[in-house]
Amino acid sequence: MSLEHPLIQAAFDAAAKQYEQHAVLQKESLSRLLERLDDDHQLQPGQILDLGCGTGWAVPELLERYPQAQIIAADFAPSMIAQVPAGPQVEGRVTDAHAIDVHAQSCDLVFSNLMLQWCDETTVLQEIKRALKPGGFLHLTTMGEHTLHELKTAWAQIDDQPHVNQFVPAAQIADLTLQQGFTEVIADSEFITMTYANVVDLMRDLKNIGAHNVDHQRPRGLTSPKVIKQLTEHFAEFRTADGLYPATYELVYLRARKPGEDKGLPVKIKS
Ligand SMILES: C[S@@+](CC[C@H](N)C(=O)[O-])C[C@H]1O[C@@H](n2cnc3c(N)ncnc32)[C@H](O)[C@@H]1O
Repeated sequence: MSLEHPLIQAAFDAAAKQYEQHAVLQKESLSRLLERLDDDHQLQPGQILDLGCGTGWAVPELLERYPQAQIIAADFAPSMIAQVPAGPQVEGRVTDAHAIDVHAQSCDLVFSNLMLQWCDETTVLQEIKRALKPGGFLHLTTMGEHTLHELKTAWAQIDDQPHVNQFVPAAQIADLTLQQGFTEVIADSEFITMTYANVVDLMRDLKNIGAHNVDHQRPRGLTSPKVIKQLTEHFAEFRTADGLYPATYELVYLRARKPGEDKGLPVKIKS
């Protein structure tokens, strides 16, 4: 687990109240991930774990798709869990994805939108595998290596400090998943570009959604007006035709399955 783990937790906990208002990208990613569930006709989950659930945005959507399911909505930020929609089939649980507070082999589906990039991938994949029943499914999104490449390039022309988080390539995520013993692993990615009126708005948005840099070698303190001006200049090559400042995200989708006997629905035996 990274040295900055408590910082990440604190940042999300503090961002919880305004999270939904600012999380445009996360909402888009969520609806694309839900579409992937719709295309996966093998899914018939009884017990779902929404890992890194945030405010529980996915909960009503999951219940609409799987009306019989029980959902554990899990997140390590208590202020996020406080907003999870209540209901007889839903339990909000404050727990860390690196040591998930669920019974081994208890889940049919682990669903996770844009959490993995904040975590130690190997540990979390091990934990997900422990939580899944044999034959259970994993569907998640995370950020790929090309995420925020414009901001990275602009900063690189100013200094060599780590201003932007490093994200793992999609192929590496797939390899790690296979190494953990998952089967039927499919990873692919697509790009989503958000645009902003200026660099300050772009960086503020990252902070509002708890997505600012938490690398322990990151430069401390506010970005000075002089540096903002430099950043703006170095962003020139990326500006859109209408003069906006882009932030491109590489959204990685991962679908995998825990090997083992799939008990599925009870089989009716004709006499
Ligand atoms: C970008 S938000 C996505 C929230 C939600 N899945 C959605 O679609 O709106 C990432 C969430 O992951 C949670 N998170 C990050 N690291 C975590 C960890 N190690 N254990 C549990 N939750 C974590 C954060 O608290 C935050 O709520």
